[in-house]
Amino acid sequence: MAKTFNILVLPGDGIGPEIMAEAVKVLKVFETPERKFELRQELIGGCSIDAHGKPVTEEVKQAALDSDAVLFAAVGGPKWDNQRRGLDGPEGGLLQIRKAMDIYANLRPCCSTSPSASITKEFSPFKHEVIEGVDFVVVRENCGGAYFGRKVEEATYGDDGRMGLFRSRDPTSYTSIRRSGTAAQPPWPVISLDKANVLASSRLWRRVVDKTMAAEYPQVKLVHQLADSASLILATNPRSLNGVILADNTFGDMISDQAGSIVGTLGVLPSASLNGLPGDKTLKTRPYGLYEPTHGSAPTIAGQNIANPVAMILCVALMFRYSLSMEDEAQRVEDAVRKVLDSGIRTSDLGGKAGTKEVGDAIVSAL
Ligand code: NAI
Ligand code: MG
Repeated sequence: MAKTFNILVLPGDGIGPEIMAEAVKVLKVFETPERKFELRQELIGGCSIDAHGKPVTEEVKQAALDSDAVLFAAVGGPKWDNQRRGLDGPEGGLLQIRKAMDIYANLRPCCSTSPSASITKEFSPFKHEVIEGVDFVVVRENCGGAYFGRKVEEATYGDDGRMGLFRSRDPTSYTSIRRSGTAAQPPWPVISLDKANVLASSRLWRRVVDKTMAAEYPQVKLVHQLADSASLILATNPRSLNGVILADNTFGDMISDQAGSIVGTLGVLPSASLNGLPGDKTLKTRPYGLYEPTHGSAPTIAGQNIANPVAMILCVALMFRYSLSMEDEAQRVEDAVRKVLDSGIRTSDLGGKAGTKEVGDAIVSAL
């Protein structure tokens, strides 16, 4: 009997629909009589605010929980910028869905030869000898920390109008830290970032990471690194961070964007958000995964067939790898992307002349 994977497709706003269309084309290449993909497409972000008054509906959250994996493109744009913020704004749709799926670990691979050594060579602002051999994955705690803090204080002052003073609490819980630790899979060394010298929340982070790693991966080397100096190391000796960089929501957000500078271009970097890996014995539900590019909705280039679909297409590879147990197929997608980029078929952000659709078609042909 054919195996059917249920995939929730969330194109969102801006360039989202265009790049998602290419990812779906690539996904379809892997349909066989034995393997079907049942796609359900829904609204999220600004388009959901326009249609339903909220950035994500309960129905869509439920659809995410009922799916085998979620492909998400990007949300937001100037239309909604001044209307809403936080959980009510377009990005709130993504935050809410992360929370509903409890996808506590955001993985962002960073490798000097991915998606292609030729891209790194041309676009990285780093000297080749500095980044040669860089290969790490940032594991960012995704469901806690300051990003989910409540606004606890607001003040108005000054003659020149109203000024908001907001304070957030940092509710990174024991469980979310412990689970981030378990997402850092061996055999890597694990480099855990914090600011334990000044933040109480970081001292908790450090204690829990120590305990989790000692209990679950005693054979894995664990290093604690202050987050600010990790930033400097990433810019001066990034190879020394090879392994897993484990960090809370805020530090993880910053270090993973900074890691994006190694490859030097946004349009080619995918990410995976997981609540565990298949086979994880501590999982209380089945594994959930949401796959999204690291870039945003790039509203100024939307609708012109010029957005780079590569990051979104590489999300399909990560989905095959982490959610669908299709490692060979994941590698085939990555190889096809490499081949197409190396052949010079590229969008304008990579100095090429091809459109979004042409790059997608070339990757499909290479497959
Ligand atoms: P952005 O990532 O959308 O764009 C940054 C720059 O990179 C722009 O010059 C853009 O044209 C370019 N770019 C991004 N993706 C590209 C692609 N695939 N191909 C070619 N060029 C690409 O970030 P920005 O400008 O800060 O934000 C734009 C909107 O996206 C905002 O409304 C923001 O809130 C939203 N956003 C959404 C995210 C998400 O949905 N996860 C993440 C980051 C931003
Ligand atoms: Mg970021």
